[in-house]
Amino acid sequence: MASKHVIRRAAALREQINEHNYRYYVLNEPTIPDAEFDRLLRELEGLERRYPESITPDSPTQRVGAQPLEAFSEVVHEIPMLSLGNAFDEGEVRAFDRRLRERLRVDVLEYVCEIKLDGLAISLMYEGGKLKRAATRGDGTVGEDVTQNVRTIKSIPLSLRAQRFPRVLEVRGEVFMTHEGFVALNKMQSAHGQKIFANPRNAAAGSLRQLDPRITASRPLDMFCYGIGKVEGVLSDRHSDILARLRECGLKVSPETVVVNGVHECLDYYHHIVAIRHRLAYAIDGVVYKVNAMQQQQTVGYIARAPRWAIAHKFPPEEELTKVLAIEVQVGRTGALTPVARLKPVLVGGVTVTNATLHNEDEIKRKDVRVGDTVIVRRAGDVIPEVVQVVKERRPKTARSFSMPRRCPICNSEVVRAQGEAIARCSGGLYCPAQRMQVILHFASRRAMNIEGLGDKLVSQLVRKGYVKTVADLYSLRVDQLAALPRMGERSATKLDRALKNSKLTTLARFLYALGIRDIGEATAELLAAHFGSLKALEQADVEELQKVPDVGPVVASNVAAFFRQGHNRRVIKRLLDANLCWKTRPPMAPGHRPLSGQMFVITGTLASMTREEAKQRLQALGAKVTASVSKNTRFVVVGTDPGSKLERAEQLGIRLLDERALLDLLEGT
Ligand code: IVH
Repeated sequence: MASKHVIRRAAALREQINEHNYRYYVLNEPTIPDAEFDRLLRELEGLERRYPESITPDSPTQRVGAQPLEAFSEVVHEIPMLSLGNAFDEGEVRAFDRRLRERLRVDVLEYVCEIKLDGLAISLMYEGGKLKRAATRGDGTVGEDVTQNVRTIKSIPLSLRAQRFPRVLEVRGEVFMTHEGFVALNKMQSAHGQKIFANPRNAAAGSLRQLDPRITASRPLDMFCYGIGKVEGVLSDRHSDILARLRECGLKVSPETVVVNGVHECLDYYHHIVAIRHRLAYAIDGVVYKVNAMQQQQTVGYIARAPRWAIAHKFPPEEELTKVLAIEVQVGRTGALTPVARLKPVLVGGVTVTNATLHNEDEIKRKDVRVGDTVIVRRAGDVIPEVVQVVKERRPKTARSFSMPRRCPICNSEVVRAQGEAIARCSGGLYCPAQRMQVILHFASRRAMNIEGLGDKLVSQLVRKGYVKTVADLYSLRVDQLAALPRMGERSATKLDRALKNSKLTTLARFLYALGIRDIGEATAELLAAHFGSLKALEQADVEELQKVPDVGPVVASNVAAFFRQGHNRRVIKRLLDANLCWKTRPPMAPGHRPLSGQMFVITGTLASMTREEAKQRLQALGAKVTASVSKNTRFVVVGTDPGSKLERAEQLGIRLLDERALLDLLEGT
């Protein structure tokens, strides 16, 4: 049974955690480090685990509690959720203001100006200060109960903060996803072969309509509140004060909201928002003007399904029609081939667009874009313009379809597209000018050839001057050539020359990693080096042989084989070897020879030189077992910065601790 003390401590922790959540998610002003916050949360979780009867439904640990639903149930909005009338130009805004002033018989009206978020409208019902129900707008009268999902949105309080609030308070606002969250989500979706969302609004809507709240919890959703529905009693007689009250209650209100006098100031606000629009972290599609005095709102009332006292001033459309003049292929810094539509210039949302990305071959096929087609192009914020769809009715007979080139348009190396991947890539990594900068920087990096002092500014100069075309050219650089570069001088040049010489003695694994072959990280490079023992043996291996290496599947094997098939790449490697690059040739590792075989490792905290997953793979490559929790069978615990409770446990059990340096010695020395 939870004692009074436990209940009091749990309540105090909840209050602190809620306060910090509010500061972090609503005010954007965290006041404690994440580690301290995690400690509070862990303590509360610990208490609740030991005394489940102490859990309250609004505990911050209970955001994702419930089981997946079979279907959403219906919610009837007692006060309908209305829409807004639209104004598409300044004339329509002036007419709106004139109508209102005439009805209200005043010379100047006070308005609240807000941004119009492009997300989805949600109603939050608080009773006794607790979030009881959240619903979508639906058709305005009947929506869907999405309470389970809305509870997972961290900026929405499960209980209100203010001292006083109406017993029943229905808050309305817009749930949305930031551009950053949207891009990250699509990246994840694409990596897992899942549906790609067309825009942040669809992503937000799709995320809220998940039957399993755990999925919603993993999506970066947020909410701004812009009004109220059903309220017991009166909150205030001005809309701006109502928003201020909501803010006091811990709800998030847009910081772009202002109170103005007269239509001129409304239009100034519009221009201000147009100017800063692309700096906002989320999508908006206009601004909203609302009469501030609630009394005046009541007097003018509603027409059809929209209030007379408010209007949305929409931005000009960001989609336009234009013609595809050509489809060209761009080669990115990583060798990815991206088809790009060259367009007849067109003004989209105030910016002239001349090309738009077509993403990849499958996208072109899906949208069936052909040269000569008329297409809809879209520009959203600072994002690269894209072709949304083809207007098929306008397709000329002469329209030509597109196919991906077989050879890189920049370096003529073979183009390969791995099984199950959407992206086609140039396989001339060591030679292709498009990939030059990236390849050289990777080659020189600390965990690859470790050429100290060769940073991006210097590489960029060397490439621009034409001194370095491939990584092999690095080893023919002369000190006098280097010393003559801006901001270099004799001393730095000599230092770099020494670093280049020092880098020549390396290991096969490092060298393979340095070549920057697609998907060959350090762990795989180790495995390849251990299996083949020499570069020659690896170069000659076919896909079948390559797949005998642990962890090497068909995709990695075909990348490696394609890389060594390219004459360009082989010539660069030969020149590197001619420059006396060398390593100790190890005999191929006897099958099953694994120096850390059977030893149990646990990794905790953050490592500086690699991710935990990489460390795990590299340890496993040497035969170690890597587990998630510390037990008496654990042999070593690798401790990075900010270690978790695993460190305490290891100390209790007296298990040997390894810091990052010791881990690297172990990985490289064995
Ligand atoms: S007020 C009675 N304010 O726009 C007034 N709506 O076309 C109802 N929206 O369904 C809405 N930002 O989803 C209001 N600052 C804002 C808004 C906003 C976005 C959405 C909302 C509504 C639609 C109306």
